[in-house]
Amino acid sequence: MIVTIDGPAGSGKSSVAKIVAERLSAAFLDSGAMYRAVTLAAMDEGTNLEDQAALLAVLEGKDFNFDITGGRMVVSIDGIDATESIRRLDVTENVKYIARAPMIRSKLVEIQRQFAREHEIIVTEGRDLGTVVFPDAKFKFFLVADPAERARRRHAELAEKGTDIDIAKLEEDIRLRDASDIEREHSPLLKADDAIEIDTTPLDLPGVVEKILFYVSRKA
Ligand code: DC
Repeated sequence: MIVTIDGPAGSGKSSVAKIVAERLSAAFLDSGAMYRAVTLAAMDEGTNLEDQAALLAVLEGKDFNFDITGGRMVVSIDGIDATESIRRLDVTENVKYIARAPMIRSKLVEIQRQFAREHEIIVTEGRDLGTVVFPDAKFKFFLVADPAERARRRHAELAEKGTDIDIAKLEEDIRLRDASDIEREHSPLLKADDAIEIDTTPLDLPGVVEKILFYVSRKA
């Protein structure tokens, strides 16, 4: 059984998907972490991020590991834990180069499908899970939220970690990332025809989780 949760940056997918996975006793697959891991590895190697062949060499030459431990995805590159460093701001800014490289995407999609074969129930989140990776998934959700609300959430998240970034700058970053996700040629951010859209702007985290679990239990 596959549950896909797609949507733009900051729509709440990650937090929601983790809890839904827990509640369904499912394995959780964070596909964005994979794009981030390749980005970080390429940056560390000093790779030209516009050179697809060089990016592919990074993906094939390094040992990427995506494990689930205690319900969360732990990422390592050549045995070194990268779970936190893939969230760095400079990684976020550069991930678009990796996300638009079709050769990288097809390799990562293979890994994502293999993950699904190895687990009975998975909850997975990203941009193209319901459209490209798992078009036959039984449950598909597409989360959206106002850019201003997404910026507010991101601001609160960063403040909790002791970082204070101007909320207007965060909103601008979100709009830029939306544009790059929506406008890319390969596997753009798109709602699958059969996905249920949930606007999370007026909802809190438990509210979104309960909505998803309600749909799942109704159709299971
Ligand atoms: O969900 P996230 O912010 O961790 O994702 C980081 C980037 O990875 C996002 O801006 C676009 C890319 N991505 C993608 O292209 N396809 C996915 N399925 C998941 C993420």
